[in-house]
Amino acid sequence: MGRMKVSLAALVTLAFCFSANACPPGDRAALLAFKAALNEPYLGIFNSWAGTDCCTNWYGVSCDPDRRVADIVLRGESEDPIFEKAGRSGYMSGEIAASVCQLDRLTTLVVADWKAIAGEIPACIPSSLPILRIFDIVGNQISGKIPADIGSLGRLTVLNLADNKLTGAIPPSIVNLGSLMHLDLTNNKLTGEIPSDVGKLTMMSRALLSRNQLTGSIPSSFANIYRLADIDLSMNRISGSIPAQLGTMPVLSTLNLDSNRLSGSIPTSLLSSAGLNVLNISRNSLEGNLPDVFGPKTYFTVLDLSYNQLRGSIPKSLSSAKYIGHLDLSYNHLCGPIPVGSPFDHLEASSFANNDCLCGSPLRTC
Ligand SMILES: *[C@@H]1O[C@H](CO)[C@@H](O)[C@H](O)[C@H]1NC(C)=O
Repeated sequence: MGRMKVSLAALVTLAFCFSANACPPGDRAALLAFKAALNEPYLGIFNSWAGTDCCTNWYGVSCDPDRRVADIVLRGESEDPIFEKAGRSGYMSGEIAASVCQLDRLTTLVVADWKAIAGEIPACIPSSLPILRIFDIVGNQISGKIPADIGSLGRLTVLNLADNKLTGAIPPSIVNLGSLMHLDLTNNKLTGEIPSDVGKLTMMSRALLSRNQLTGSIPSSFANIYRLADIDLSMNRISGSIPAQLGTMPVLSTLNLDSNRLSGSIPTSLLSSAGLNVLNISRNSLEGNLPDVFGPKTYFTVLDLSYNQLRGSIPKSLSSAKYIGHLDLSYNHLCGPIPVGSPFDHLEASSFANNDCLCGSPLRTC
């Protein structure tokens, strides 16, 4: 009898969906509550959020084959003609309502670059949206903490919370995001340390944490992440030495550690790595000599070592590099002749300025 009731109810629901071409009333109500918490005064994108069928022609909303809401994609910087017509980029205030948590089949939640959306990340998101794959709220004014249980989003591939006002620490549970490929927490007010077991994020290819107030040291477990191509920890308060393991990572091509409090010497492995093309470790307290490990495989588009405490001379091997686009050795304590060779031909005096006693072109003759 009970079973009979259930299937009857299911049938009635199905019939209703197909006949009236409506989306599930619960999803529709959740979207309307989400809309009510936001104010978009210039483009009128929410004017389209009307009528019974939230799966059709609701701007930025799409549904899965079961007609459950699967994606909300609202980007304030977009190619969409409505932006061109309005002659402006997006602006929206208000907040992200917790009603979004009722959309339990959501795979994409993008509410990006609206400049003025404030409030906090709804605490219910990690426990309520089990199949969320993309969570992107870049470019708003979202404050508060990253939910402690963020790590329960087992299918999350993109977590972009950059350019907001988030505070508190990076939750330790973040290392449980086993599908995460792209992590961007740039330009918030995050404090505390990078979890030492960040290396558990084995799918990650980009780890962008710059412009926060992170402390502690660089976890050497980063080096366990085989796919990691881009690490940006610049403009934080990170101390300790640079783990030598970073220089052995198979696909790491960009490493930005500039404007931190790093000390110790520059690992030889970083400068001899053939894959690393952008290395900025400017404005730290790195010391010691520049290791003599350059050669025909050396290929840097950026090698910025300025504003440190480097001593000794510029290794002759650097002149045998295949290519060095932007070299900056200024504001160190280097001394002796600048090597001659093609990587140095295009460099200006500013690349070598404010050292102890460097000489030779493009500086004064020795
Ligand atoms: C390297 O970092 C410094 C300090 O954060 C910054 O001023 C500089 O522009 C960066 N260098 C390059 C080539 O981007």
